[in-house]
Amino acid sequence: MTDVLVTGVGGPAGVAIVRSLAATDARVHAADMDVYASALYLVPANQRHLVRPGLAPDFVDHLLALCERLGIDVLFPTVDVELVPIARRLAEFTAAGVTVASPSLATLENTLDKYRLAQACAGLGDVVPRTELLGAAYDWDYPVIVKPRSGSGSRGVHLVEDEAALRALGTDEQTIVQENLPGEEYSVDVIADLAGTVLAAVPRSRLRVDSGVAVAGRTVKDAGLEETATRVAQAIGLTTVANVQLRRRADGRPALLEVNPRFPGAMPLTIASGVDMPRLCLDMVLGRALPDRLEFRELANVRYLEDVFLDPSDVLTALTSAAALAERDDAHAAAPAQP
Ligand SMILES: Nc1ncnc2c1ncn2[C@@H]1O[C@H](COP(=O)(O)OP(=O)(O)O)[C@@H](O)[C@H]1O
Ligand SMILES: [Mg+2]
Repeated sequence: MTDVLVTGVGGPAGVAIVRSLAATDARVHAADMDVYASALYLVPANQRHLVRPGLAPDFVDHLLALCERLGIDVLFPTVDVELVPIARRLAEFTAAGVTVASPSLATLENTLDKYRLAQACAGLGDVVPRTELLGAAYDWDYPVIVKPRSGSGSRGVHLVEDEAALRALGTDEQTIVQENLPGEEYSVDVIADLAGTVLAAVPRSRLRVDSGVAVAGRTVKDAGLEETATRVAQAIGLTTVANVQLRRRADGRPALLEVNPRFPGAMPLTIASGVDMPRLCLDMVLGRALPDRLEFRELANVRYLEDVFLDPSDVLTALTSAAALAERDDAHAAAPAQP
């Protein structure tokens, strides 16, 4: 039996992975720091686990111990802040027999920082919009985009109209200035095998976005978008799954906005379109044969909230998570027998 642990199961990416893998022959364990994370309740009670917050200093220690206790074969982290701490200690997961289904530390470092991303992809020519540190150059075609090197959810992104306004922003090494891409925007979900060969690139239009997640969208067959995202994935040495965001220039050519090095919240649309990336990723890390050709069809989606009803006593607490119960049992077993 293959044991899989998915983290961040209160988020849309975590839910999508749990639902995809629950339909395979794997036993799916679900983890989150929040007792109300919905996909905890999509798996059997003894497969629900509370973990420490991804930013906590002991997050990885706890996660490693949990993986060892459960005999986890494959770990799917889905929370942004967990990715780097886990990747930094990959050797310990490997030593514990756990394969981590997320990109390498080098790929994370080249994508989570948008300035480094532009440098890593410089060899792709005009796929990369001109990108400079704030204060480094003023000879732009205005307007330009100013945004944080490491940001998310569009926070801190704004359009700057002219040189005077750009100069007024001063100098900041944590902020980038980027050529404005005025055209249509796409998110391309890309899966690459462990040697870095891209298996599929599925472009999506995000028709409506709520809190950074597409809640209405459609997959788009477009060879130019698929090829551009594939070249970006190769340039950053992608293995497993990432979401490559592209936007068209005024003349229609696609260019790179950013790469989110993890499963996206809109994964159900990509799965329904024909490329079940969580399942493929699992098969891939287990060394199983993959289909030769991965095709998808164009499909649109809308979303609604769905209720999961529980007996009130089934709502986890820190003391009733499967991990806590196992720890208690271990403590009992280790305690000397009563006379
Ligand atoms: N160079 C650019 N040209 C046009 N729009 C941009 C550019 N960079 C960012 N944007 C807009 O800002 C949004 C957020 O930028 P992005 O680089 O994806 O950062 P994040 O999603 O991490 O905040 C994009 O979805 C896009 O709408
Ligand atoms: Mg983005």
